[in-house]
Amino acid sequence: MSNPFTVSLVCWHDGEPLLKSIREAVFIREQGVPAELEWDEFDKSCRHALALSQRGEAIGCGRMFSNGHIGRIAVMQQWRKKKVGTAIVEALLDYARAHDYKEVDVDAQTQALPFYRGFGFAEQGEEFIDAGLPHIKMTLQL
Ligand SMILES: CC(C)(COP(=O)(O)OP(=O)(O)OC[C@H]1O[C@@H](n2cnc3c(N)ncnc32)[C@H](O)[C@@H]1OP(=O)(O)O)[C@@H](O)C(=O)NCCC(=O)NCCS
Repeated sequence: MSNPFTVSLVCWHDGEPLLKSIREAVFIREQGVPAELEWDEFDKSCRHALALSQRGEAIGCGRMFSNGHIGRIAVMQQWRKKKVGTAIVEALLDYARAHDYKEVDVDAQTQALPFYRGFGFAEQGEEFIDAGLPHIKMTLQL
C-alpha cells in the first residue's frame, strides 16, 4: 500500500504558512521553545521538506542548510510513528546526495537519538542545551 502522505522539497517562499503551522504546533506549543528562538534568518536560504496528508493537511517538516546541516524536523503528534519523519529525513538526504554533499549533521534532541541512529547518524562530542532542551551533535557520512 502506498503512503497516506507525500513529502516534497519546497523553498520558504512557497511553503512558509504550512511550515510555520507545523513548527508552531510542535516546537513552540508542544515543546515550549520560545518563538524568538524558533524563527531565524536562515529559513529563507534553507531547502525545506514538507509532508502533506492525502487531504492536504501539513503534517511534518524539516530543513537543510547548503552546508548539509539538518534541523527543525517535526511531525504533528497524531502522525507520529507512521514513518513521516523517516520520509522527511530521507527526502533531505536524497537532496544532499544529489548535490554531492559528503556529510550531513544534525543537532539532535537527546530524546530523538534513536530516530537519527536509524539512518546511521553517529553522536559527536558532548551534550549541550539549546532552547532549554538537551541536544547532541550527530553526523552522517554520505
Ligand atoms: C522525532 C520525530 C520527528 C520522529 O518522527 P516520526 O514520524 O514519529 O518517526 P518515524 O515514524 O519515521 O520513526 C522512525 C523510527 O524512529 C523511532 N522513533 C521516532 N521517534 C522517536 C523518539 N522520539 N524516540 C525514540 N525512537 C523514536 C520510531 O520508533 C521508528 O523506529 P522503527 O523504525 O524501529 O519502527 C517526531 O517524534 C517529532 O516530531 N518529535 C517532536 C519534535 C522533535 O523532537 N524533533 C526532533 C528535533 S532534533
